[in-house]
Amino acid sequence: TNEVPREKVLDNSLSLLKEGYLFIQNRCRQFQSDIFQTRLMGEKVTCISGEEAAKVFYDNERFQRKGASPKRVQKTLFGEKAIQSMDGEAHKHRKLLFMSLMTPDGVKKLGELTTVQWQDRVGKWEQMERVVLFDEAQEILCRVACEWAGVPLKEAEVKQRASDFGAMVDAFGAVGPRHWEGRKARKRAEAWIEEIIEQIRNEKLDSPEGTAAYAMAWHRELDGKTLDKHMAAVELINVLRPLVAIATYITFGALALHEHPECRQKVTKDNQDYTAMLVQEIRRFYPFGPFLGARVRNDFTWNGNQFRKGQLVLLDVYGTNHDSRLWEQPDEFRPERFRNWKGGLFDLIPQGGGDYYQTHRCPGEWVTIEAMKVSMAFLTNQIEYDVPLSEQDLSYSLVRMPSLPKSRFIISNVRRKTK
Ligand code: HEM
Repeated sequence: TNEVPREKVLDNSLSLLKEGYLFIQNRCRQFQSDIFQTRLMGEKVTCISGEEAAKVFYDNERFQRKGASPKRVQKTLFGEKAIQSMDGEAHKHRKLLFMSLMTPDGVKKLGELTTVQWQDRVGKWEQMERVVLFDEAQEILCRVACEWAGVPLKEAEVKQRASDFGAMVDAFGAVGPRHWEGRKARKRAEAWIEEIIEQIRNEKLDSPEGTAAYAMAWHRELDGKTLDKHMAAVELINVLRPLVAIATYITFGALALHEHPECRQKVTKDNQDYTAMLVQEIRRFYPFGPFLGARVRNDFTWNGNQFRKGQLVLLDVYGTNHDSRLWEQPDEFRPERFRNWKGGLFDLIPQGGGDYYQTHRCPGEWVTIEAMKVSMAFLTNQIEYDVPLSEQDLSYSLVRMPSLPKSRFIISNVRRKTK
């Protein structure tokens, strides 16, 4: 076996905070290697990048999720003991629960609700001097998410709920106040959704069969028992929160339309194939999830490295989406690259890789794509707007995690498009 590059440092957590999305890629380039060892948060960590690395990472014989995600992430982003940290048969069973919501009709419904919500806001925006697209998108998606999931939401609570879902996501790469905001937000959301679960079970609330709320309230574990109220709430939030997080991709999408007017032209022609490619490129190109973590389940050797049981391994998500072996000129935004894409399970991995039913790959990928498609179509075909440059900073950081255009994308002079 060849020697795996090893960083001779006591701890590299600070470099991770300083280099953000590029932390793994920078080192893979420096070492000319898909794999290296470092130390993060007090432990030895192996980082891996690329399509082959992703294939290994999603091998259930070699890796498990138990003990992989730090408590701080569970207390903000995921929720404790939820699907993300399960393994084996219990995980597969829980995964079926999520996948059961992603029927063709369910996906289509989500797109329709999203379009209706966008259209509903135009009148208000026409009266506004400035519209912060990210904030509006979060609220729109919060309404969509709750309606789709069968969770009642009063108009007066939309702002708080949307911002709580946002804060849970915003906390994932944070230390300090941003982390604590995320914890507070999760506590509020869990209390709210536990109440909803209880009401469904007491038949005080009629959530239709087929909705996420109904599914979580009545789901039976392998032992035949329903989830306790808290766990049901945590898993329902695992549907609501990420639906709201699609606002991030929509905002990056608006940035893409702004920076590449030729893309806008092509969507305008109501070109569905093109819109699909545009959405894939947005998900590939812009930063969201930086990397994923798992622990070695059984000793094995790969690429010259001895993986030892229990060791933490990080898969480079951002770097794999920008790997020049997979993507020609990866740092250029080119939707057309997807025209001949073969649809690999381990190359485009913004929402994880592998098989939906067997691995931890995101069950929400289809609804994410659908929501993005209708949103890009709305922004190009149904409204016109200006992007006032003197009043905002459109740049985004590759260090801050999660990232977003700094001004959250301000638009003005919004008007309905006359066909
Ligand atoms: C898992 C990204 C939207 C529900 C994941 C994973 C990623 C991801 C990277 C982890 C994959 C792994 O651990 O191997 C995203 C991004 C989204 C998004 C960037 C866009 C905003 C959604 C939506 C839903 C959803 C809309 C639900 C409606 C979940 C769940 C898991 C997950 C439940 C855990 C799956 C498991 O552990 O088996 N997502 N996701 N996500 N996502 Fe998403």
